Amino acid sequence: RAVPVITIDGPSGVGKGTLSRKLAQHLGWHFLDSGALYRILALAAQRRGVADQDEAGLARLADALAIRFEEGSDASAEIFVDGERVTNAIRADEVGAFASRIAVLPQVRAALLERQRRFRQPPGLVADGRDMGTVVFPDATLKIFLTASVEERARRRQKQLREHGVSVNLHEISRDIEARDNRDRTRAVAPLKPAADAKVLDTSGQSVEKSFDELRSLVEAAI
Ligand code: C5P
Repeated sequence: RAVPVITIDGPSGVGKGTLSRKLAQHLGWHFLDSGALYRILALAAQRRGVADQDEAGLARLADALAIRFEEGSDASAEIFVDGERVTNAIRADEVGAFASRIAVLPQVRAALLERQRRFRQPPGLVADGRDMGTVVFPDATLKIFLTASVEERARRRQKQLREHGVSVNLHEISRDIEARDNRDRTRAVAPLKPAADAKVLDTSGQSVEKSFDELRSLVEAAI
């Protein structure tokens, strides 16, 4: 039998990372943070001066990078690229913006496809991203699509930044989130949208615990 996969897709700032890591840890399954792969490629391209429109160059770079995830006990991971630790560097906002620009390129997505599927290892995989249920794992056991209002996601992002000592105006954050969502939703290849057979879960106004309880009920009914 195929190794089971639970896909968790949704826009940025919706709580995907937190909820899917928690779920992977709860089940004792592997975890794929697919956004990290786009960010890793973005960082490598920025450092090597590969332009965000150089589709063939980016695809070659994606094939050449030696990427290693060292899974921690809490499903967090240290990330190494060509031996260098990039765990924090890939989280910068400029890297996220570059990632979302190169994520529209079909050759880039194709180059990362196999790499993502290799994470499917026993006893199971929780995969977090934008197209996990629609493109990468269309035969997933359970597909979840998370949503939350832009205002709510902007507030969460602002809180996160404040905790890191960065103060950014809410209006600016909302504008960035909307621009990124828009790019992710309207691209021709693998746009952000729920799979036809996905269960949609709205996390607006809910604590992580409440959302996780809902998620767990869906999982228990499915596996
Ligand atoms: O989720 P995260 O913010 O780390 O992803 C960075 C960017 O990578 C997203 O804005 C999106 O454009 C892209 N991405 C994607 N498909 C995925 C995961 C991320 O296009 N499966």
